[in-house]
Amino acid sequence: MELKKIQDVGELENKKILLRVDFNVAVKNDRVMESYKIKAVRDTLKYLLNKDARIALVSHLGRPDGKRDPAFSLEQISESVGKILGVKIVYFNDCIGKKVSSMLESLRYGEVLLLENVRFYPEEEQNDPAFAVNMAKNFDLYVNDAFSVCHRDQASVTGVAKLLPSYAGFWLQKEIENLDKIKTDPIHPAVAIIGGAKIETKLPAINIFEKSYDYILVGGKIAAEALEQKIKFSPKVVLPEDFAKDGLDIGPRAVEKYKEIISHAKTIIWNGPMGKFEEKPYDFGTMEILHAVIESPAYTLVGGGESVQVLEENNAMDKISFVSTGGGAMLEYLSGEPMPGIEVLCS
Ligand code: 3PG
Repeated sequence: MELKKIQDVGELENKKILLRVDFNVAVKNDRVMESYKIKAVRDTLKYLLNKDARIALVSHLGRPDGKRDPAFSLEQISESVGKILGVKIVYFNDCIGKKVSSMLESLRYGEVLLLENVRFYPEEEQNDPAFAVNMAKNFDLYVNDAFSVCHRDQASVTGVAKLLPSYAGFWLQKEIENLDKIKTDPIHPAVAIIGGAKIETKLPAINIFEKSYDYILVGGKIAAEALEQKIKFSPKVVLPEDFAKDGLDIGPRAVEKYKEIISHAKTIIWNGPMGKFEEKPYDFGTMEILHAVIESPAYTLVGGGESVQVLEENNAMDKISFVSTGGGAMLEYLSGEPMPGIEVLCS
C-alpha cells in the first residue's frame, strides 16, 4: 500500500482544497499556548499557496460534544493562527454550506479560509456519510496534514477522504517516516520511556516495545498503577524502585537508574512525564530525564501533549531528533494499530 502524496498531484491552480489540520491546542484568553501543531502545517500550506490553490483549513478544538460552544470556537485562535503561519486568515463560522464555496472563490492571494470547529456537529464523530458529503461538496481535493487525529475514524478524517481525491501533506509524511525509523527495527540499545496517566492507554504501547526495545522505563501515574494492579511484564520493563513523598514523582533511586540506562541508548523514544511536572518539586524526575535525553547522542523521538509542553517550556524542541505532534495517535501507530486516517490515503 502506497501513501498518496501532495507533491504527486499535477495541476493545483484554483483547485479548492480542504486541508485537515489539528489545531486542537491549549488556548488561554484567545492566546495559543502551544504552537507546535499549528507550525507543523507550514510547509504544506506554503506549497499549496505557491501553486495558487484555494485552501480551507478544517480542524476540531477540544470535545464540544456535538454542540456549538464559543469556548471551543476556532474564531478565538484565528488571529494567532495567521501570525504563526504568516498568512491572512479569513474565518468562517461553519464548516459546511454553500457559503464555504463562495468564500473560497473570493479569497485573495495569500489568504486562507479557517472553518469553524468541525466537532460542533455530532455527525463528525459519528462519521455520518451525509455530513461527509456536505463537507466534501465544496472541494476538489482533500489533504490531510493532521497526523495526531489519524487514529480517529471521523467524517473530516476518513469520511471526506473517501469522497475526494485525497493526499497526505508534508507533515503527515514526515511523521510516518520518523516513526517508521524506530517502530520495529530501532538501533540498539533502544530505550522507550513511558509516563503520564491512564495505564489502559499506555499498556498496549509498553507491550509492543517489549518486542523490539531493550528497556522500557515506566514513570508517572502509570508506574504506580502498574504496581498497584500487579501487572506482569517481561524483565525489559523497568518500574521505579522508589517514589517521591506523596507519590507524585519517581524517586531519586529510580531517576539514577533511568539516567544510567539512557546514557547507553542509541535510540530513545519518550512519551509522558515522570510525575506531576507542573508542580515543584514533583518536576524533578521529568527534568532529570529531559536532561539525560537531550544530552544523549542517540536518535531521540518525543511525542505527546505534555512531553512537548516540557520541551517547549525548557527550550529543548531543537535538541530532539524528531518531535511528534501525536499523543494517542503516536502510541497507536507505534503499537501497529491500523490508522484509519492514513489507510484511507493509500492506493
Ligand atoms: C490530540 O490532541 O491528541 C488530537 O487532537 C486528538 O484529539 P481527540 O483525542 O479529542 O480526538
